[in-house]
Amino acid sequence: MDRLAADFERIFGAAPTGVWSAPGRVNLIGEHTDYNGGLCLPIALPQRTYAAVSRSGDGVLRMASAQQDGVVEVSLDEISPERPGGWSAYVAGVLWALAKDGLEVGGLDVLVDSTVPLGAGLSSSAALECAVAAASSDLFALGLLGSADGRGRLAARCVEAENTIAGAPTGGMDQSASLLCDERAALLLDCRSGDTRQVPFDLGGAGHVLLVTDTRAEHALVDGQYAARRGACEQAARDLGVETLREVDPTALDEALARLSPGEVRRRVRHVVTEIERVEAAVRALEADDLTEVGRLFDASHASLRDDYEVSCAELDVATSTARAHGALGARMTGGGFGGSCIAIVPSDRADAVATAIEAAFAEAGFAAPQSFTVTASGPAA
Ligand code: ADP
Ligand code: GAL
Repeated sequence: MDRLAADFERIFGAAPTGVWSAPGRVNLIGEHTDYNGGLCLPIALPQRTYAAVSRSGDGVLRMASAQQDGVVEVSLDEISPERPGGWSAYVAGVLWALAKDGLEVGGLDVLVDSTVPLGAGLSSSAALECAVAAASSDLFALGLLGSADGRGRLAARCVEAENTIAGAPTGGMDQSASLLCDERAALLLDCRSGDTRQVPFDLGGAGHVLLVTDTRAEHALVDGQYAARRGACEQAARDLGVETLREVDPTALDEALARLSPGEVRRRVRHVVTEIERVEAAVRALEADDLTEVGRLFDASHASLRDDYEVSCAELDVATSTARAHGALGARMTGGGFGGSCIAIVPSDRADAVATAIEAAFAEAGFAAPQSFTVTASGPAA
């Protein structure tokens, strides 16, 4: 943080008013359910994006990042899907969305640095948005960090920034996780009602760790595939005469599927409906300290994402199956898929062996070297 403040002063000519930060996330279970009004269960990562920020006083937003070259400038009234574009759209979009919400905001000088790996499916983009949102709330005296409602409103503005200004048609899980997750808890997020509940999550006490493996897989067409999945779900909901797939009664799933054309769309809907049930089951299992059952649900979620939703890839399949073969209780892809990261529940004394086995399997398959690390559920944007 001292280095960030010193770098800020070098770039902008004065010390920052403060440094705010927001975490990346992994979703424990409930994948591709958020934009279907469903349930998901993310935790905040210890990895965070830090933003040193001051008010600029002239209606101009100036943005720099340790992860990018140069300083980008844009006037608040010029922000659009075309301007400023690139990485700074995530920052500018937050100010745009706050202003559109009727909140009084102005220009900022912003320098960010992050320990969340970029593009690894760990929501570095949401961490960036939420760090800027937290800074804006304090610097413009919006008072939105002090309550869950205020944080929820900030999360909704960050989602708008991502959807409209950065142009990614994502759901709301990542920003809610970054602003609302508590330490040592997973956030049960109901994306239909907006309700949240903290579910205690501390594997250490049970002699286990959550191992994250960034597969480093890069796949083209990721954005188009995400939008296609979302579009297919929305169309299926219209065909079934419901607002979202959350309304499909899981006990009458077969009847609902029979009303859709055979094949792909049925599999997409089956994933979403069964995945929402798996979130409920995982919460029950966590509350009963039944990690074996949580692991089984991780495996079932991965199979459903691979076979029915078709958003896995070779690297994620190898990482999850290798983790299981070397002692994980369960493993699954996390995030949007087509690359990104896998998570596994592993006995603490097996963590190194599992990570090494994944590395060896990747080398043998000719994949890029993966990066594994253990994480604990950490605190929200502040
Ligand atoms: P993820 O959010 O899973 O890491 P995305 O592809 O959605 O992956 O978002 C990554 C993008 O977000 C980066 O390419 C960059 O444009 C932007 N970004 C995230 N963190 C930073 C950062 N610290 N500095 C600059 N840009 C960032
Ligand atoms: C992410 C997206 C989230 C969620 C997730 C899949 O990439 O940002 O909103 O839809 O994929 O569960």
